[in-house]
Amino acid sequence: MQLVTDLDQWQQLRSELDGGVGFVPTMGALHDGHLSLLRRSVAENALTVLSIFVNATQFNNSADLQNYPSSIEEDLKLAQAVGVDLVLMPDYAQMYPDDFRFQMREEVFSRDLCGSDRPGHFTGVLTVVLKLLNLVQPEKAYFGLKDYQQYLLIKDMCAGLFLPTQIIGCETLREKDGLAMSSRNRRLDSTARGVAGRFNEILYRSGSDEEAMGALQALGCTVAYIKTQYGRRFGAIKIDSQGDSVRLIDNLVPENLAANLPVADAPVNGISA
Ligand code: PAF
Repeated sequence: MQLVTDLDQWQQLRSELDGGVGFVPTMGALHDGHLSLLRRSVAENALTVLSIFVNATQFNNSADLQNYPSSIEEDLKLAQAVGVDLVLMPDYAQMYPDDFRFQMREEVFSRDLCGSDRPGHFTGVLTVVLKLLNLVQPEKAYFGLKDYQQYLLIKDMCAGLFLPTQIIGCETLREKDGLAMSSRNRRLDSTARGVAGRFNEILYRSGSDEEAMGALQALGCTVAYIKTQYGRRFGAIKIDSQGDSVRLIDNLVPENLAANLPVADAPVNGISA
């Protein structure tokens, strides 16, 4: 496995690579969900590239950025163990030589759900993903469906801009109690972890968004949104933990809609299918 931090070196290396590339972009702090994406890429492509880049432009809250977990040494060991070929790990100055003067903005769906309480978040995500896709030029790129809105926006961006990469959404991996795996789970103390473990069940079992919201608030969560659309229920909550506030998201097909499957990639803005 080769680690590359310099983008000039990367561009040279990329021009010499032979064979289809699978790509898993991450912000590090790898967990089993990331590893499942990497394993799938290793199985389906001649070469697998992992990127680790904590993308400052997608954080609308500086405390959230500062507290974002990091475990680079452990990440590199895990990546090697699952068969990653190349790790791209640039810094901000390398990724943003334009200092974010050029931005990739979506005007409709990016303002809904997570975009409603994290203004500008998806502009940061789409901008960095576009840069990474240009750098890595993968045949396939893998994204977890916990970030379902992100997945749809990236898929639509690639379709809208005629990018050749196939965007593959992979099922959310969950802990034993159903909590969706997330790097942010590391920031939960044991009380907060107990509350977080109820999130998915409440999303699943509640008969309405209002009922889910009430149940989460009764547990002490701050609810950013609960919204059922495209046959899925989406939710974002904040849980206090060690004087900090940890934001968690999830989405699933709720029990009362499960009978109407399949609902997978419902149209959002006329591109997703
Ligand atoms: O899902 C993430 O970890 C990030 O949003 C991504 C896609 C790596 C872009 O920074």
